[in-house]
Amino acid sequence: MGSGSPLVTIDGPAGAGKSEAARALARRLLVRYVDSGSIYRAITLEALDRGFDLDDTQALQELAAELKIEVETDPAKPPLVKVNGTPVTTRLRSPRVDETVSLVAKVPGVRQAVTRLLWDLSQGAVVEGRDMGSVVFPGVRKKVFLDANFETRVERRSRQAGDWGSDSTEHIEEDLRTRDEIDQLRESAPLRIPQGALVIDSTRLSVGEVVDRIVLYLNSK
Ligand code: C5P
Repeated sequence: MGSGSPLVTIDGPAGAGKSEAARALARRLLVRYVDSGSIYRAITLEALDRGFDLDDTQALQELAAELKIEVETDPAKPPLVKVNGTPVTTRLRSPRVDETVSLVAKVPGVRQAVTRLLWDLSQGAVVEGRDMGSVVFPGVRKKVFLDANFETRVERRSRQAGDWGSDSTEHIEEDLRTRDEIDQLRESAPLRIPQGALVIDSTRLSVGEVVDRIVLYLNSK
């Protein structure tokens, strides 16, 4: 493993509220914040821009290894992701990336490249994704798994889609179903509740309430 261990990992499916909770938690604790999904999205966007065949796992693996990806980890600053020096943040949540990111993220060689980058970025940070507590940082003592019922997750994504550019509810629903399936069934680092993780169902909780629960958990033995 690289330079150090994160403070806490937060895993869960899309729309469970991980990003908002992780960012708010990091702001409260004055530590860094790493959104691992944004790195998978950046690689996917680059592959789409270059017209890659997404079945070509060799090409995807080489691309992931060669790209220089930089992410802003200060939770008090706006999110920023750069690929080879070019900011791509505003393009990471397009419907096209939503539809294809799970295909890119299931390639083992892509996961290895992202895992290496995460090891370098995450010392003392709040890190969120799908396999943070189970595969990338299995030795971390504090792990959270954040979930919510399907309708709530769709509703949250619809609200976010309104902020990022429009996408229909039907399309979001279909995208979440497909991504859930690929993320849970893939061979390499599938979405799982990490052993010993605190499971939080955020269906009826505000972001502040989720953060309060995590802070209590971090302060417990
Ligand atoms: O969290 P977000 O929805 O932005 O993640 C986008 C996609 O990236 C997920 O659907 C998943 O396929 C992939 N991902 C992953 N492992 C992570 C984080 C994200 O496979 N740790």
